[in-house]
Amino acid sequence: MADKKAQLTIEGLDEAIDLPIYSGTTGPDVIDVRGLINAGYFTYDPGFVSTASCESGITYIDGANGILLHRGYPIDQLAKNSNHIELCYLLLNGELPTAEQYADFESRIRNHTMVHEQIANFFKGFRRDAHPMAVMCGVAGALSAFYHDNLDITQEYDRQVSAIRLVAKMPTLAAMCYKYNIGQPFMYPRNDLSYAENFLYMMFGTPCEEYVPNPVFAKAMDRIFMLHADHEQNASTSTVRLAGSTGANPFACISAGIAALWGPAHGGANEAVLAMLSEIGDDSEENIQRFVDRAKDREDPFRLMGFGHRVYRNFDPRAKVMKETCDEVLGELGLGDDPQLKIAKRLEQIALEDDFFIERKLYPNVDFYSGIILKAMGVPTNMFTVIFAMARTIGWVSHWNEMITNGVRIGRPRQLYTGQPQRDYPEKK
Ligand code: SDX
Repeated sequence: MADKKAQLTIEGLDEAIDLPIYSGTTGPDVIDVRGLINAGYFTYDPGFVSTASCESGITYIDGANGILLHRGYPIDQLAKNSNHIELCYLLLNGELPTAEQYADFESRIRNHTMVHEQIANFFKGFRRDAHPMAVMCGVAGALSAFYHDNLDITQEYDRQVSAIRLVAKMPTLAAMCYKYNIGQPFMYPRNDLSYAENFLYMMFGTPCEEYVPNPVFAKAMDRIFMLHADHEQNASTSTVRLAGSTGANPFACISAGIAALWGPAHGGANEAVLAMLSEIGDDSEENIQRFVDRAKDREDPFRLMGFGHRVYRNFDPRAKVMKETCDEVLGELGLGDDPQLKIAKRLEQIALEDDFFIERKLYPNVDFYSGIILKAMGVPTNMFTVIFAMARTIGWVSHWNEMITNGVRIGRPRQLYTGQPQRDYPEKK
C-alpha cells in the first residue's frame, strides 16, 4: 500500500529509518511512523495537529479551500437537496439510499423514537436547574444499561440496530432534558411527524393543546442537524473512536463523545457565542471594536467565540449555509433587525477586515450563527450543545461502525516523560 517512503536520519544512528508514505483519495499523504518505536523513538504531537489517527472514508475537509465532503458530496449541495435522515443513511452506509432503502431506514428510525419508560426515572435524580448537557451525558450513558444484552458489536446487524436506536432516541432524550429543566411534562414522540417536526413537538408541545410545528422552523432545524452531522476526526469523534477501540458498549461510547463535545472550544461554542453577543450588548461601532481588540490581546482570555477552526483556514462552508438559514428564519419571524444578529454580522465584517484575523486565517465557523437561529426559534442557550450532540450522533456512530468494521487495536498513546527519575522511598526516621 506504500506509494513512496520517507527516510529519517537521526544523529547517532548509523542507518536511516525508512518510513512508508501512503496517499489517500485526496488530501495530504501520511507518513507511517509505526516503525519508529523499533529505533526507540515516539512521535510528539500534542493536540494531534499533524497526526492522522486512522483511515476513514466518511468525511473529508479541505481546510484551505473551505470544502466539506460527506462520502464525496459537498455539504452545501446536501443541505440544499437532501435531508438529515438521508444524510444519516449516507454517512452510515456510504451511498445515497434508493427510494426503497430510504423508506425502510426512515421507517425504522421513526418507529424506534421511544425510550424505555424507566429512563424517565433517571431524570428525577437531577436538580431541575442542572445544565441539560450534564443530564444528557447521564441519560445517554444510561441507555447502555438497557441495550447490553442483545448486543454483539462484532455483528454488523447488531451495529446497525445500535445506530438506528441512537439516531432515533437522541432527539427524545434531548427534548426530555429540556422539559425536565423547565418543569414541564415529557412529550412522547409521534410517528406521524418527520424527524425535525417530532423534535420540535417534543420540545415545545404540551398535553394542554395541539402543537403544529412551524414548517420554516422544521426545515431550519433539519438543516441545523445536517450541518452538525459529522466533521472528520474532531475532538468528540476521536473520543468516541478511542472509547470504542476498547470494545466498550456503543451507547457508553456516545456518552463519552457528548462529554467531550460540551467544552466551549468545541461544541459548547454555540452557547458561548450567544453569551458573547449578550456581553457585547449594544451594537455601537466603538463597543464592537472594543471586543475585537480584546480578542486580539494575548493578555486577555476573551476570544471571539464562533471564530477560528483547527482545520479551516478559510470560511467554514457550514457557516455560509447557517448564515442563509439565519436570514430565512429571522425573516420569517420579522426579526431581520434582531440586535444580536446585527452585532454578529458587524462583528464578522470587522474581524474579516482585521489583519490579526486575516493573518491567522480566523473565519466564522459552524457555531457562529447557529445559536442565533436556535434562540429565534425559542430554544434556550443551555440547550444549544444538546442539539449539537443529537445531530452529531450519526457522525459518531458512523465512525464507530467504520472502526469496528475495519478492525481496530486499542488506542494507547505514549508520552514524553519529564517527571522525576527513579528514586528510592526515604527510610523512616
Ligand atoms: C467546533 O474540530 C472540529 O471539526 C470541530 C467542529 C466540529 O464540527 O466538530 O468544527 C466544531 O468545535 C468548531 C470550533 C468552535 N470553537 C470556537 O468557536 C471557540 C473559539 N475558537 C478558538 O477557541 C479556536 O479557534 C479553536 C479552538 C476552534 C481552534 O484552536 P487552535 O486550532 O488550537 O488554534 P489556536 O488556539 O492555536 O489559535 C491560533 C491563533 C492564536 O493566536 P497566536 O498565539 O498565534 O497569537 O489564533 C488565535 C489564537 O489566540 N485565535 C483566536 C481565536 N481562535 C484562535 N483569537 C481570537 N478569537 C478566536 N476565536
